[in-house]
Amino acid sequence: MDEVPRGVGRTALATAWIRARASRRPDRLFDDWLAQLFVDAAGDAVPVVPPDADDQLRMWARTLMTYLDVRTRFFDDELGAAVAAGCRQVVVLAAGLDTRAFRLPWPDGTLLFEVDRPDMLSFKERVLASTSFRPRCERHPVVADLTEDWVDRLLRAGLRPSLPTAWLAEGILVYLEAAQAERLLTNVTDLSAPSSRFALEDATGLSKELLDEVRRIPPMGEFADLWHGGLQGESAAWLGDHGWRGHETTFTRAADRLGRRPDQSMPVEGSFVTAQRTGPSEPAGVTRATAPRHAGATESNRLNGRRPTATTG
Ligand SMILES: C[S@@+](CC[C@H](N)C(=O)[O-])C[C@H]1O[C@@H](n2cnc3c(N)ncnc32)[C@H](O)[C@@H]1O
Repeated sequence: MDEVPRGVGRTALATAWIRARASRRPDRLFDDWLAQLFVDAAGDAVPVVPPDADDQLRMWARTLMTYLDVRTRFFDDELGAAVAAGCRQVVVLAAGLDTRAFRLPWPDGTLLFEVDRPDMLSFKERVLASTSFRPRCERHPVVADLTEDWVDRLLRAGLRPSLPTAWLAEGILVYLEAAQAERLLTNVTDLSAPSSRFALEDATGLSKELLDEVRRIPPMGEFADLWHGGLQGESAAWLGDHGWRGHETTFTRAADRLGRRPDQSMPVEGSFVTAQRTGPSEPAGVTRATAPRHAGATESNRLNGRRPTATTG
């Protein structure tokens, strides 16, 4: 295929490659059968781990695969919980090659909006059009830049802010500057009626030393320059301060619950936040689950300043 996503869009190709592999595991956590179609269509443009990769790259790749495996299933479950709680609008921010519209069971009347950049969505639509698969909900691709004019475009596509919405921000905040990430959270909050849900991924530990190390490891090095850190682990606290009530789960905790064990500790600690928009008189605040003791993490040490309250739930 001649037109494939470039720049930050290549991260979605890498994610599809990993999801295709994860779907072939006998003990898979999800089945993303469309992922391989995107990989095949993108051909050489997919950043894969080369067969002659050295030990360091293999270790990084395995850790990243476990991370994406767990992250995907965690957010599958959360979106299932959101529609079970009554949300009939779903917005996948920076959807990339996300195929949840096709592979998850949606209640009748569910509208699902996928927001991403033009190069990503044109590639995705071309691949999908070449198949006979149909979404299991009313799917609306929305071409927009999440650092610019996306709110108007989403409203024009049919989002109704007076109704509860389930939002997903997976694999995007880390690519934004802090101010851009905060504006995104503000916009989502402004568009969210009470009982809306927000699921997002946050990351801490993106130090200069780490980025320098990653830069030395092709093909991951090209992604290091795209990481800007977002709110660097402060997203949950931000939501708690702005009318959301919820919970933050560290990657190690989520992995443990799903029976997945990364073979090294993550140099970047990812966490997954799930929150509900409160009504005017309801208390807000986001709590955090600490990692199980055997995972060897020290999350509770990092709970300071505006960080959310630690729990063991
Ligand atoms: C790592 S991929 C994640 C894709 C998807 N959420 C998933 O988990 O499979 C990052 C995605 O963010 C999109 N993206 C990055 N910056 C963006 C922006 N400013 N506006 C819209 N989309 C953006 C890219 O096009 C890409 O699809």
